Amino acid sequence: MSGDAWLTGPADRASCARRGYNGGHAAMSISSATFDELKRRAREAAAHAYSPYSGYPVGAAVLCGEAIYSGSNVENASYGLSMCAERNAVFHAIASGERAVDAVALYTPTRGAATPCGACLQVIAEFGPDAVVICCAADSGAERRYALKELLPAAFRLQK
Ligand code: THU
Repeated sequence: MSGDAWLTGPADRASCARRGYNGGHAAMSISSATFDELKRRAREAAAHAYSPYSGYPVGAAVLCGEAIYSGSNVENASYGLSMCAERNAVFHAIASGERAVDAVALYTPTRGAATPCGACLQVIAEFGPDAVVICCAADSGAERRYALKELLPAAFRLQK
């Protein structure tokens, strides 16, 4: 397997270790059935997106232990008030009492898989510094899997 196996292959112990994520990485304990369900929930959430301004519907699903919480992007006529799907999904989880995010799936009904924006990465880092991020698209071959730390290696932390 190539060094890119982590991106597309199963989140197995060997591929995590090759990429340097061998210290209790969340992906190691998530089954492929759970990943499939997370992706299904993200795709389902995209159907509820409110994106009349961008025409870009997004769905996200967050895994916290065995529970899954979803969210979609919700736009506003005052564009800057729009909210991304990932943040809505994380906030849904936190407002439901969760505090630890293990994985986030992001679905866009596009050919290529998109990665979360920087603001969403920072919000995910708050609750899931070791989270797995699964980016999927209408073309299932475009799926990519990352450690959050690959996408945001130096998240902001309050220094005291
Ligand atoms: N969007 C998300 O929902 N997640 C992201 O990570 C980036 C962008 C939304 C915001 C907006 O409603 C639309 O996609 C186009 O930017």
